[in-house]
Amino acid sequence: MRSLLFVPADAGRKVEKALASAADVVILDLEDSVAIAAKPQARAAVQRILANRPSGGPAIYVRINPLGSGFEDDDIACIAGRAPDGIMQPKTASAADVLALRGKLETQLPVIAIATETAGSLFHLGSYAEHAGELAPMAGLTWGAEDLSNDLAAVTSRDDHGHLTPPYQLARSLCLAGARAAGLEPIDTVCVNFRDTGALEAECNAAVRDGFSGKLAIHPAQIATINRVFTPSPGDIAHASALIDAFREAGNPGVIGLDGAMYDRPHLERARKLLARAARYS
Ligand code: COA
Ligand code: MG
Repeated sequence: MRSLLFVPADAGRKVEKALASAADVVILDLEDSVAIAAKPQARAAVQRILANRPSGGPAIYVRINPLGSGFEDDDIACIAGRAPDGIMQPKTASAADVLALRGKLETQLPVIAIATETAGSLFHLGSYAEHAGELAPMAGLTWGAEDLSNDLAAVTSRDDHGHLTPPYQLARSLCLAGARAAGLEPIDTVCVNFRDTGALEAECNAAVRDGFSGKLAIHPAQIATINRVFTPSPGDIAHASALIDAFREAGNPGVIGLDGAMYDRPHLERARKLLARAARYS
């Protein structure tokens, strides 16, 4: 899962374009991008889309409304019997919320939780690892700055240079560590300035550098960049292969020197993971 494209479920034209895009996942939104009065028609659209989905194309997730919103039971009812590939669950306070969702589902589906949208949630990113066994088949954790800034009563989540301020850097880092500790995919949040290709590229590069495996998108123009940056480049693949070869040729020791740098077991494991990621997206 490199690119996950949000689309308001009731926006027919956008849904069509999203399903025809190169996104790995399309997320049909029933939550924040759908007006309260439009929720019933958005649910009806989800049912239609799932009943007529084309073969091939992106995986389809549905973002339901949060537990306790009063909308969640109708959201869950609308996907019963027409299973999407997964559910995105917003505003989770901890793993207990995902377990509570599980209790409401007839068929268990992969879940991606947006796990940093409330102030209190930041204290529970370790809960997903603590409950990893019960949460299967959970898929990932992602984080959000917009709802968190609202809950923190912040004016903005970015400084004058457009960089995340410390509370949101913390949320991002806790999401990454919480996901990896639980064996889940960490997914970076949206770049809301969808016309700013430079900002998107920089956010993607930082996310790959830090260990995220994909990124949320809100506009189809963001997909090509996300897919490219989250796919290992030929240079990365060549370097990882050379490292693995060098370990083998040296008789698989604990540590080797290559081109003037030291490499030990974590580097070897990282190289193997990179080749696995490259194989997945080739
Ligand atoms: N998925 C698929 N297609 C999309 C799309 C999306 N998320 N966003 C825009 N498009 C399409 C439009 O339909 C338009 O196609 P058309 O001209 O052939 O009809 C084309 O891309 C260009 O759209 P553009 O004019 O650049 O954007 P906009 O100003 O109409 O819309 C947003 C901007 C942000 C409102 C829109 O991109 C959007 O709805 N994004 C998703 C929002 C969302 O789901 N938020 C919740 C999660 S944070
Ligand atoms: Mg939101």
